[in-house]
Amino acid sequence: MHSLSGAETRVLAVVNQKGGVGKTTTAVNLATALSAARKKVLLIDLDPQGNATTGLGVRRSVIRESVYDVLFDAVPISEAVVETKVPNLSLIPSSVHLSGAEIELVTSENREYRLKAAVEQAGAYDYVIFDCPPSLNLLTLNALVASHGLIVPLQCEFYALEGLSHLLKTVERVRKRFNPTLEIQGVVLTMVDRRNNLSRLVEEDVREFMGDRVYKTVIPRNVRLSEAPSYGLPAIVYDMRCPGAKAYIDLAKEVIKREKTAVQALVA
Ligand SMILES: Nc1ncnc2c1ncn2[C@@H]1O[C@H](COP(=O)(O)OP(=O)(O)O)[C@@H](O)[C@H]1O
Ligand SMILES: [Mg+2]
Repeated sequence: MHSLSGAETRVLAVVNQKGGVGKTTTAVNLATALSAARKKVLLIDLDPQGNATTGLGVRRSVIRESVYDVLFDAVPISEAVVETKVPNLSLIPSSVHLSGAEIELVTSENREYRLKAAVEQAGAYDYVIFDCPPSLNLLTLNALVASHGLIVPLQCEFYALEGLSHLLKTVERVRKRFNPTLEIQGVVLTMVDRRNNLSRLVEEDVREFMGDRVYKTVIPRNVRLSEAPSYGLPAIVYDMRCPGAKAYIDLAKEVIKREKTAVQALVA
């Protein structure tokens, strides 16, 4: 799997088993910021709720095949791809059928590797990004098995570190059994309000616990980020100058830089 320039396609999953922490907002806006940096990006919406799909303004009426058909009916990614309003950004839409996928996967062959197999045939992209559902189910496991790196959005609240250690244990198990080179690309703090004492304390704890795995860029709490999806637009397109959009553009720069380092480490 290679990009147009011949470099290897990098596959990243936006993952956290908790809902409402900013996964979809991060997946959509990071994917958009990467496209704006002239990367060819494929976003795959793995959440049956389909918030990334609607947030990109893709209506049900234009969806012929979804990630469900890719996983279960061997529909190639090239046939399920929908172009978005964002240049260089393509989408594999979600479907409500995905909510039953968990049960269907349990009894299916190669159940952990279905997404990996599909993505390996995806075509010339610089980045493939998964927006994961809010659980560590088989769909998420498929994403972890298919990925080079994970981007973990974390909201600075009281139980943030407990949730993070649970996720890290899962990642460790996935490394042992399915994907030895899986890395945490980084942890991104979301909905940050540094006027709030608890938020500041949790940020300090997370930075101490995870060290330089935490991106320098933090995503501020910004209502523009939550308004944009109702217009079917990434915040970066809806209001390029809002603090949230700027933060995601900075995050994309950090992500690109870390990916370069990761790739260099592989060839060294
Ligand atoms: N930085 C932010 N500032 C304000 N609202 C945000 C921010 N990030 C996400 N939201 C809002 O919070 C809610 C949950 O975010 P979402 O990205 O859907 O989380 P998840 O995908 O983890 O469930 C959504 O309504 C979203 O618009
Ligand atoms: Mg979501």
